[in-house]
Amino acid sequence: MSMILVRTIPEIRRDIAAARERDMSIGLVPTMGALHEGHGALLRRAREENSYAVATIFVNPTQFDRPEDLEKYPRNLEADMAFCERIGVDAVFAPDAREMYPDQFLTSVAVAGISSRLEGEFRPGHFRGVATVVAKLFQIIPADRAYFGEKDAQQLAVIQKMVADLNIPIAIVPVATVREPDGVAMSSRNQRLTPDDRRIAPRLYQALCEAGRLIRSGSRSAAEVKLGALAILASSPEIRVEYLEIVDPTFHVLETVTGEVRIAAAVWLGQVRLIDNLKV
Ligand code: PAJ
Repeated sequence: MSMILVRTIPEIRRDIAAARERDMSIGLVPTMGALHEGHGALLRRAREENSYAVATIFVNPTQFDRPEDLEKYPRNLEADMAFCERIGVDAVFAPDAREMYPDQFLTSVAVAGISSRLEGEFRPGHFRGVATVVAKLFQIIPADRAYFGEKDAQQLAVIQKMVADLNIPIAIVPVATVREPDGVAMSSRNQRLTPDDRRIAPRLYQALCEAGRLIRSGSRSAAEVKLGALAILASSPEIRVEYLEIVDPTFHVLETVTGEVRIAAAVWLGQVRLIDNLKV
């Protein structure tokens, strides 16, 4: 069966209903396109674990807190289609903004608390935009499973809370971060780095690994762990740190390291904002 490209909500609903008629299980991978091997890992899992795999490609305007970031976000539907086709995706749903947000769109989904910390603090309204569009996609495509990357661990936590709170019957499947050979987490925004900044980018992951090493060797003071990690970032003056924190699974910032923690960071390299995290 060859892959289909779907542009409208009624049409993708019909396709999903037809797959359900044939007793197929449905796997959903929401994306904003500019697909890379990070997305590839999600798409392959969806392909393996379901009989019908759907990718959505939608650069969601409501989750961008800076207009120039939305404007400069890479878009290449043709390459993305070829990427999905190679993996064996059954359908790509790529609506335009009017299809998702007609005039007089008034509803939003906000997951309180977690959405206001770290990413939420530095990107006001971001998680409200994410939760709203993902809630809409879950209504349009009632999948059995939906796949999200740990690269965006806080987003994953927001979606898990939304699904639990709203009793949405879709299993959320986390997928480990896919990295370049030098450790840089794959991201659509990496292609906007200058060659010089790209050479410095591995520092971010190195800093997270140093924090992980300090914790594993017994350090329980978040301040001490952060100091070690920040020293690595400080060795490159081009890097501007927005935040680097040790957090619990609900993204509360910790002073003392206990239980399962994550080191989460956001940095700027030139005009590009990079995020990464590591579970310890
Ligand atoms: P986007 O940045 O395109 O990412 C789509 C999915 O791919 C997310 O679940 C993200 O965590 C995952 N992903 C990206 N890079 C990854 C990597 N290196 N390793 C593993 N997974 C990776 O996240 C979004 O789009 C949007 O916010 C969206 C959920 C689609 C809502 O608009």
